[in-house]
Amino acid sequence: MRKKAILITGAAGEIGHALIEALAKTGDIPLLTLDLDPLPEDIRELTTHWEADILDQKLLDRLVSEYEFEVIYHLAALLSTRGEFSPGAAHQVNVNGTMQLLRLAAEQSEWRRKPVQFIFPSSIAVYGLPDLETKTQYARVREWEWNYPRTMYGANKLYCELLGVYFSEHYRQLAAEQSTMVDFRAVRFPGLISAFTVPSGGTSDYGPEMLHAAAKGEPYGCFVRPDVRIPFMAMPDAVKSLLALAAAPTEAIGQRVYNVTSFSLSAEEFKQWVLKFFPAAQIDFTPDVKRQTIVDSWAAEMDDSAARRDWGWQPDYDVQRAFEEYLVPNIKKRYQD
Ligand code: SER
Repeated sequence: MRKKAILITGAAGEIGHALIEALAKTGDIPLLTLDLDPLPEDIRELTTHWEADILDQKLLDRLVSEYEFEVIYHLAALLSTRGEFSPGAAHQVNVNGTMQLLRLAAEQSEWRRKPVQFIFPSSIAVYGLPDLETKTQYARVREWEWNYPRTMYGANKLYCELLGVYFSEHYRQLAAEQSTMVDFRAVRFPGLISAFTVPSGGTSDYGPEMLHAAAKGEPYGCFVRPDVRIPFMAMPDAVKSLLALAAAPTEAIGQRVYNVTSFSLSAEEFKQWVLKFFPAAQIDFTPDVKRQTIVDSWAAEMDDSAARRDWGWQPDYDVQRAFEEYLVPNIKKRYQD
């Protein structure tokens, strides 16, 4: 008998940390987590963790034979800045890794004659606006607009969304018997900010880096211009959106890829919010032209009306609540200990 489980890849990353805590609270189905790294101590008890590589086919074969997955949260990825330094590795992990997991989900859906749900965090990096004028003019992008990513990571995410749709709607379309398809659902996240972890390898990292540096009393040189604007979201809302999308009834899902967002800030406005709570913070702007160009190509805001309409998406944290009630108190506690 295969054991029922929820699979989380990339579990030791930022989203994984918060998602494991949230899923463990519901406690319905045991969690199986994968990552190259061990899990942080505070969440180790909540899951069965395998330190393993999602590109290891033998490992995936073993998973299929031992487990029946109800839901797969496929979080493993190399982010946008890191991907530019190692495009081959990014493609391996982001595309080949996703393909492996989708095939695993397809195999299990077929075998149990019931779709495996595949929840995929996509990204604002799938957008690529050509210049700042266009970025101002088309501030609130909708899902199908400006899908011209300029990073390896963005291209990988966009392609994997298409692969997910393919595995949900067209896989084995020429086979004699109809297949049971995967149930792929994706959210495109803005820059995420966690009180408990600092991101690594992303290009929206200047936001959380600025805040964590201020809390630690360290000076920070922001690598984008003060005027650059992108949307952000507090980590509890990111987890909320993944869980809400997974819980949405099939009939409600009018599309497989949804924007979700919370608040948009320029880097200067971000700094002002940080200064409000850490008035002594030393924050300068020392833009890195190349990373700046990536952020310039991302939308200033995302239109998440489809998610609001179809599955009742609504963030709990606007900018004020995010700083006042989630980020600042938890970050202060973290660095005081
Ligand atoms: N936070 C990601 C990055 O900066 C975007 O999804 O790469």
